[in-house]
Amino acid sequence: MTGRSRRVRAAVVVIGLLLTAALGYAFSNVRKGYAPRQPIPFSHKRMAGAPLLQANAAGEPVNVGGFGIPCVYCHTMPYKGRHSTLPSTAVCMNCHSTVGLNKEWVLRLKEYWDRGEPIPWVKVHDLPDFVYFDHSVHLTAKNERGEPKLPVVEEQGKRMPPCQTCHGKVDQMEIVSVQHSFNMQWCLDCHRKPEMRASTDCVACHR
Ligand code: HEC
Ligand code: HEC
Ligand code: HEC
Ligand code: HEC
Ligand code: HEC
Repeated sequence: MTGRSRRVRAAVVVIGLLLTAALGYAFSNVRKGYAPRQPIPFSHKRMAGAPLLQANAAGEPVNVGGFGIPCVYCHTMPYKGRHSTLPSTAVCMNCHSTVGLNKEWVLRLKEYWDRGEPIPWVKVHDLPDFVYFDHSVHLTAKNERGEPKLPVVEEQGKRMPPCQTCHGKVDQMEIVSVQHSFNMQWCLDCHRKPEMRASTDCVACHR
């Protein structure tokens, strides 16, 4: 690219950003807490949460907690690409072709599957298109000692998925909600931390 066309391109980007600024600003703090209703009440707490055994009336242990399915069983892409991707219904059917067929919502799930229709999940997180975000960069970033930059243990020393820093304790949510503002300030606050040493160049996130 010539110096001139690069300057023109930079100017276009800056003008574009300024135009969206007013709008972006207005919406910048409304994201936190957003928890849209989903077509099937899929519970992360039940699917990904830790098991909890309790004795039933006959004294037999039953799992009243979660099934502890790892995040990446369903969200297969975050270590490999930009997007984290939602599971296809086929992933649900690995179990639900035989499991839970007495439950109303499992039957609804099977109806989508039988009709060959994808489940119309409603997006929870959705940044504007002028922001570039890449899951894999974050999940594979390592420090000089070769340890992951994003924490994998909680303060109490309990292991946690690296997703938790940004998405919160999803494994305890009945309905997924946005846990932070997900605005520019939030990104930069972490990028500026000395242990993160992540870029604060405009073009890193606006390319
Ligand atoms: C059994 C499959 C399954 C497992 C395991 C699972 N998820 Fe999900 N996840 C889904 C489905 C289906 C959705 C879409 C419905 C919804 O938002 O509740 C979803 C939605 C999400 C979203 C919101 C996506 C958006 O639209 O912005 C996040 C964040 C997320 N999951 C994180 C996690 C994390 C972190 C874990 C591990 C603790 C995890 N998931 C485990 C199936 C799964
Ligand atoms: C590894 C196996 C497994 C996978 C994969 C799985 N589930 Fe489940 N799911 C279960 C089990 C076990 C139950 C509990 C069934 C019961 O209590 O009889 C269940 C229960 C449910 C229920 C009913 C909850 C209730 O108590 O009414 C829904 C809805 C559900 N799953 C949706 C999904 C969706 C959507 C997916 C795919 C994104 C999925 N599941 C993937 C194992 C799985
Ligand atoms: C550094 C913060 C960060 C971490 C760590 C992180 N995410 Fe995300 N996640 C985001 C952002 C930001 C978005 C919104 C992306 C967009 O709208 O373009 C997002 C979106 C998603 C979505 C919606 C689909 C998509 O890609 O837009 C899912 C599902 C998801 N994340 C799951 C996960 C899982 C599972 C993990 C852990 C393996 C994880 N995330 C780790 C910040 C993070
Ligand atoms: C919890 C901390 C944290 C949060 C929150 C976070 N990041 Fe990052 N980001 C990192 C780390 C760590 C790296 C990798 C730095 C390295 O090792 O090169 C990174 C790298 C990046 C890169 C690659 C930079 C390059 O040089 O190519 C982009 C782009 C990026 N982040 C965008 C975002 C955006 C957009 C958001 C907010 C929606 C965000 N990040 C939120 C920690 C974070
Ligand atoms: C680490 C990632 C990151 C970096 C670095 C970054 N931005 Fe942003 N920027 C974002 C995100 C995320 C948004 C979206 C905010 C929203 O929608 O709430 C945004 C939004 C904007 C907006 C729209 C107004 C607003 O506040 O929502 C402008 C203008 C902007 N950025 C300019 C810049 C400039 C100029 C730089 C360099 C000094 C820069 N950005 C560096 C992540 C970044």
